[in-house]
Parts: sequence; C-alpha cells; structure tokens
Amino acid sequence: MEKLNVLFVDDEENLLHGLRRSLRRKALGWETRFANSGEEALNLMGESPADVIVTDMRMPGMNGVELLKEVKAKYPKTVRFILSGFSDKVLILDSVGLCHQFFAKPCDIEQLLEAVNFSNSLYAQLGEERLQKLICEIKNLPTPPETYMAINKELKKEEPSIENVAEIIRKDASISAKVLQLVNSAFFGIGTEVTDIAQASSLLGTEHLKSIILMIGIADEFSKSENPASLDAYRRHSLEVATECEHIAKELGYKFNEVQTCFTAGLLHDIGKLVMLSHFKTKYSGIEAFRLQTPGTEAVQDLESEVFGTNHAIVGAALLALWGLPPQVVNAVAHHHKPGKISPQEITLATIIHVANAVVWHRHHSEDGNLNESDLIDPDHISKCGLTDSVLGWSNTPNS
Ligand SMILES: [Fe+2]
Ligand SMILES: [Fe+2]
Repeated sequence: MEKLNVLFVDDEENLLHGLRRSLRRKALGWETRFANSGEEALNLMGESPADVIVTDMRMPGMNGVELLKEVKAKYPKTVRFILSGFSDKVLILDSVGLCHQFFAKPCDIEQLLEAVNFSNSLYAQLGEERLQKLICEIKNLPTPPETYMAINKELKKEEPSIENVAEIIRKDASISAKVLQLVNSAFFGIGTEVTDIAQASSLLGTEHLKSIILMIGIADEFSKSENPASLDAYRRHSLEVATECEHIAKELGYKFNEVQTCFTAGLLHDIGKLVMLSHFKTKYSGIEAFRLQTPGTEAVQDLESEVFGTNHAIVGAALLALWGLPPQVVNAVAHHHKPGKISPQEITLATIIHVANAVVWHRHHSEDGNLNESDLIDPDHISKCGLTDSVLGWSNTPNS
C-alpha cells in the first residue's frame, strides 16, 4: 500500500512542532507536510493532493472552513479533519457537512493520530476509487420524511421532550449515526465514547438537536430516492436486527449500557447497504434481487466484492470510522458477517449482530421460520463461543 499522505495546517508554529515530534516518535510511516496558512495548504495540495488534511479553524487570511470548502470541491477524495481551539459549537455545527471529524484544542495528539490511522485503515479497503470518493462526499444518509416530521413536531413544542426525540431517533439508522458522530466529536467535551442514543440526545440538548435536524435536510434526500421499496426493507431489517441484538444482549446478562450499545450497533450494521442502495441504485438493486433468492449472505458478499471491489460491511464501517464513531461499533459493523475474525472463540459485539442477523433472516425466509444448525453462516465461531444451543433457542422464540 502506498504511504498515507497527511497535510497539517495551522498558524501556530508550536502546534506544528508538537505534531512533528509526536509523528517522529510514533513512526507511522506517513508522508507528512505542514502549512502555516490555508493559502499555503492549497499550494501544497496543488503540487500533490493529500489523502488526509487536518486543519485549524481560525487562521489569518483563509480560515479552516473556507479552506475545507475549496478542498472538498477540488479534491473530493481527501479526508477532512478540523483541529480547532475555537469552541463555538454553532460554527462547528455549520461545518458538519464539510469535515469528517472535529478535534478540540488543546488536543491529545496521540488520539488525533490514532483517529487518522483508524479511519484510513478501513478507507483503504474500499477498493473502487468511485466508492472512496463517494464515502468522502456523504454528508447524510436518507431518512424517511415520517421520522423527520415526527422529530420536528416534537422539537417545535413549547417544552419538547428529549426522551420522545431520542425514541424517534433510536429507530432510524441514518439520524442515529449523525447524532453519534456529533456527540462523539471532541467539541462536546464528553471524553467518553457514547454509543447510546438516549444518552447522546440528552448530552446534545434540544437546541443542538434542532440544528442537526434542520441541517440534515433529510426529507429532501429521501424524496430523491428512486428506490423507496428497498430502502423500506433496509429500515425494517435494521430495526429488527437491533431489537434482536438487544434481546440477545439481555439473555447474555449484559449491563444496561452494553445492551444499548448492542441495539445501536445492530441498527447501524448494514448502513453500508444504505450507502450503496441510495447511491448506486441500479447496480445495487441487482444484488438485492439476488439476495432475496439466495439464502445466507456469503454469496451476496462475494457478488458485492465482484461488482464493487468491496462489501457493504466494509463500506459501512469505513463511513462510521470516518465520522468518528467509537471503534467498538465500527469493528463490529466491519465484521458482522465474519465475527470469528475478531476473536475466534470470544463473543463480541460482531458475534451478537451476526447471530441476530441470522435469526431475523430465517424468521422471514425459512419454511418454518426457525433456524437450524446447518443454516448458521459461521457455525464454527458460534460453537466455539458455546452459543449453538442458545442461538437455536432464540430463533424459536421471537422476542416481543
Ligand atoms: Fe450485513
Ligand atoms: Fe443484515
């Protein structure tokens, strides 16, 4: 693989020095360049575009937002991060469509480098260049107008209830991903990874939620879709798998917040499908048709790889990593079809999604609605985790 080319832009010499030092210590093997201003950064980009740009927000002359606007238009494949000491949250919300992740100054440089590395490790696996460009350009994913209207209606009340809003958001994978992206960004100063929508919504508060909903303009996106039936099926499936994940986590005796994380990961597990469905409609509809005729998902993943050079699990994980969602969720999404790859004999979040997915699939597609041992996609992993009997039991008792 070629060396990752990263460009850092800041008018503070000290910060650039600190970065240089940490980079030397970490020996990541990146090719790094440093610019003192937006203008200089654009010149360097003109010489050779960077894979990743990390810029300050407030600089004399061209500011970070102006710089990223230019970069986004001219070099859409470049991943855009903001590192800023300017803690005006409204401005941050304005730049949401412009940058992939925000980091607050003073910043933990190690954490920043880690994030750049993590999001790029998945991004590099996307294969097809068109897909890389697409992932980089995505601001929001389609959300049904009903969700949008319901949230809006609640937020317009004199005293909107955060609990009600959270309950609506909780069922929608695209808004959930966006809310988690914002709340996990360093600007909200929370410092811990948030994977639960109810917690995320109350941390953001009604005012920020309002801005997010307004900014997302999701209803419009959805109405443009030519493929509402597949999108509907995707939504139903995501919600069913999320509910099944929650059920399994409870059966396994997980704690309350772990159960919530399982629900969120289940809801987001196929978000890569949503990306493909909404942006490569014709190409992906053929794959969807094949999926309906072919039991299991392995063959479908192979077909996806043939057509796109990658599969929906990687596409979804790459998008979520780029948006700064916690690695625990990103990894589970990346491996939900092959959970044994994370750990052959240990139950992870990926195992739970995998099992929930199988249970849901067979509830709809097998003749008696039950799952048999021979239907399991990764029976070896399930058995090493000691889950075979439980899985067969869960599939026979649909949760309410
Ligand atoms: Fe999947
Ligand atoms: Fe699925």
